[in-house]
Parts: sequence; structure tokens; C-alpha cells
Amino acid sequence: MVKTSFPATRMRRCRSSAWMRNMVAEHRLHPSDLIWPLFIAEGQGEEQPIATLPGVSRFSVDRLAEQARQARDLGIPCIALFPNTPPNLRSERAEEALNPDNLICRAIKTIKDSVPDVGVLTDVALDPYTADGHDGITDAQGRVLNDETKTILVEQALVQAGAGADIVAPSDMMDGRVAAIRDGLEREGHCDVAIMAYAAKYASAFYGPFRDAVGSRGLLKGDKRGYQMDPANGSEALREVALDIAEGADMVMVKPGLPYLDIVARVAAEYRVPTFAYQVSGEYAMIEAAAAAGAGERDALVLETLLSFKRAGARGVLTYHAPLAARLING
Ligand code: PBG
Repeated sequence: MVKTSFPATRMRRCRSSAWMRNMVAEHRLHPSDLIWPLFIAEGQGEEQPIATLPGVSRFSVDRLAEQARQARDLGIPCIALFPNTPPNLRSERAEEALNPDNLICRAIKTIKDSVPDVGVLTDVALDPYTADGHDGITDAQGRVLNDETKTILVEQALVQAGAGADIVAPSDMMDGRVAAIRDGLEREGHCDVAIMAYAAKYASAFYGPFRDAVGSRGLLKGDKRGYQMDPANGSEALREVALDIAEGADMVMVKPGLPYLDIVARVAAEYRVPTFAYQVSGEYAMIEAAAAAGAGERDALVLETLLSFKRAGARGVLTYHAPLAARLING
């Protein structure tokens, strides 16, 4: 017979009651682990449902204070804002990104004026503003130009910081942009504005509903593989993260979330910076579809997937399920 420590060791003892399970739990989900992405639309009194993201709507700026109050009351520390720019304001050089009165800036001001103790994170990338839906400006062959784009991204980050953004989050994957944005922020006196770098962002099939939400899906020419990471690569993500930290990122992000949990775990184990995961739109849609089909129970799927990010070492998660998850946690 095989020598074993049984029955001295019975793993089930520590699972035998709810209080025992609670007591030995290694990880716990808290509302402060959640960052809530919100989509913004032009207009008044607008709440526009997004078909591919059931349960998520775009809100007009006048409806944002109530959303921010909801976040505060639920204990969600931070909101991430994404604008749906009207088509006539999208252009080849994305000038609207630099308009200090654009949708995102009005949204930032509204939230900071009404609920100042909720953090505001803004995306630094040109895809809501370019005519072709790319994150940067393109040359005649449709290639995204790194250095020209980087210069515009610095200005975009400064416009957002000027409007009151607490965290700017470059999601564009241009090389060298974190250092350039940090320099710009310091130069303009925004030394407390933090940078959360979308450090390891993959060219993923999971972004479809997001592109519907910001209105760029139909516009996108080609794909983003020339700047976002190849899903085949893992070690490259560590290099991306190291570069962004060296350039001055305060926090880093891995995106998408669940299919890249190995990357989250490797980054969190390797570096001493807060690491976030973005459970993206396609992941949200999959959970909703599974729940709608009766294949799983929504609340349990949401809490289990979010907890898995904590177990992998993430400090927090960007998720469209943030309000639901916070309500479930708060009980
Ligand atoms: C754009 C951006 C994207 C997301 C966040 N910022 C889409 C993309 O890169 O095409 C995706 C988020 C999601 O799918 O929920 N820079």
C-alpha cells in the first residue's frame, strides 16, 4: 500500500463549513478591487443600450453624476470613461481628441464636480477620434505612425489631465509613449496625475462589443496587429511591462483578462507595481450569453471570474460587471 498521511491529513476539514472556508480563504473580492468602464454619448437625458453588450448603456454627460454616485455608494473607487464621438467629429488626424471641450473632457469635469472622491481614469488613444478607427494616425499605406501618434497622445493626455482626469491610461501600444506622456505631465504641473499603462495589450477578438459601444467597429480598416501584441507571445509581455515601468508607469494592465490569466500571474510575480486586468467587452458578453442560455448562473460566473484575477495576483480588475459585483459583495 502507498504510504500516505491520511487520515492525519484530510483536506476536506477546512472546507467543512462556511465559516471555516471564509477563515482559510486566501483571496477575497472587495468593491475597491473594481474599476468600472462607462461609455458616454452626446445628447441630453440619453441612455443608449448597446446590443452586443446587454445590460450596458452609453450615457449622456448629464446622466453621469448619478452613475458616479452609484459607484461611490457601492464602494467602487474609480470609473474609466470611453466616448462615442459623433461621426462628423472623427477625422484623419483625430483633432477632436485635443478639443478641451470634447465629450470626454465634459464627462471628466461633470464627475469631478459632482462626486470628487470617485477616481476618473481616461483612455489615451485615438481610436474614438480617427476616421478609420485606428489608435493612431496612419500613412498612405494605412500603417499607424508611431512617433507622430505619440506626439498627439501627449497632447491628448494633457487635455484630459487639464479637465481633471486622475489617471491617464495609454491603450494605444505605441512605443515610447509612457515616457513622453510622463514628461508632458511633469512639464505642465500635473505631477499627481498617475499613468496606468495598458502595458500588455493583445490584438484580440474579444474587443468587438467595445468597438460597437464607441462606434468604431464599422470604421476599422484592417486590424491592429501592427501595434497590439500577438496572442502567441507571453515573454514579450514581460518586456512590454518592464519598458512601461522604466518609462514611468505607476500601474500596469494586462488585457484581455481571462484568456491571459497566465500573463497576469507572470507580471504580478515579476514586478512590484500594481497590476490590473481588463475583463474586456467580449468576456462580459460571453458571461451574459452563457447566463441567458441557461448554461451558467450569472452572479456566480461573475464572482468566480473576478476572484480568479485576484488569485492570479491582480491588484484589481476593470469590468463592466463592477456594479453588479459590488452589490453582490456588499450583500
Ligand atoms: C482602444 C481600446 C479598446 C479597448 C479599450 N481601449 C479596443 C481596441 O483596442 O480596439 C477594449 C475594451 C473592451 O473590449 O472592453 N484603444
